Amino acid sequence: MTEIRTIGVIGLGAMGGGIAQLAVEAGYDTIGREVTGELADAAAGRIGHFLTRKVEKGQLEQADRDAAVARLTTTTELEALAGCDLVIEAIVEELEPKRVLFAELDRICRPDAIFATNTSALSVTEIAAATSRPERVVGMHFFNPAPLMPLVEIVQAELTSAETVEAAAGVGTRLGKEVVRCHDTPGFVVNRVLIPLLNDCLRVLDEARVSPEDLDTAMTAGAGWPMGPCTLVDLVGIDVHVHASEALYDKLREPRMAPPARIVAMKNAGLLGRKSGRGFYSYD
Ligand SMILES: NC(=O)c1ccc[n+]([C@@H]2O[C@H](COP(=O)([O-])OP(=O)(O)OC[C@H]3O[C@@H](n4cnc5c(N)ncnc54)[C@H](O)[C@@H]3O)[C@@H](O)[C@H]2O)c1
Repeated sequence: MTEIRTIGVIGLGAMGGGIAQLAVEAGYDTIGREVTGELADAAAGRIGHFLTRKVEKGQLEQADRDAAVARLTTTTELEALAGCDLVIEAIVEELEPKRVLFAELDRICRPDAIFATNTSALSVTEIAAATSRPERVVGMHFFNPAPLMPLVEIVQAELTSAETVEAAAGVGTRLGKEVVRCHDTPGFVVNRVLIPLLNDCLRVLDEARVSPEDLDTAMTAGAGWPMGPCTLVDLVGIDVHVHASEALYDKLREPRMAPPARIVAMKNAGLLGRKSGRGFYSYD
């Protein structure tokens, strides 16, 4: 089995930045690729800042922070990832750009390198099919924010080898995550369960004419949820939830997957939850 020493992360946005942070903290030499030097510098700056915050909170030694930061390099050139043992992709959630990227990586990287996608809702199998090494392509589905959320789903596509699944699972464990293995089906595990469940909750707002506050209280006090569904959807982002619902509905055609009209209207009105300052609740 290829020993994973150097990790490439493509796309240093919300997810990729967090994954790169986890990788340098876990001792991997890490190369992050962005589309412009400005975006790459900004992402490296954010990672340095988050690690400094950990020092200030007493969670990390200064010397370990400095060593972690030194393990990160950034680039705009895909060729710079030629020596990576594992490349984790976290670019826009669209099939064609991901397939183009994986085909380029296939050309550039060693034949034994492993490619992982952090897609939430696309088919890992379709992404893998853009390469000549589908047995070495796997899903590594982290949750947002990646440095804080404990789970990673390791997704076995149709042709992914057991060896690749175990290599990815090993990296997930070394990154400090709880690892679950699953097959490549729409929504994998968590979103397959959570998206229709949240949509049911949101439909109950209208059916039972309960207020968002009372619905949240019902589910925290009556079902032991750590936070209520309206609070959770506000945190995730109304637009992100609508997009994930539509993606699942497109694939499964089950009415429960479709986003309720009420939150589609909220999205269209720019009520996106915490990030826009208003969703089910107001945030000042
Ligand atoms: N945000 C979430 O809650 C979440 C959770 C799990 C998985 N995901 C998945 O992770 C992926 C990334 O999502 P995100 O929220 O981090 O998006 P984002 O928009 O924050 O970041 C994407 C980044 O990729 C960069 N990029 C685009 N094309 C690129 C390319 N060819 N090479 C290098 N960089 C490129 C963009 O400049 C941007 O910085 C998506 O597939 C998404 O579905 C997102």
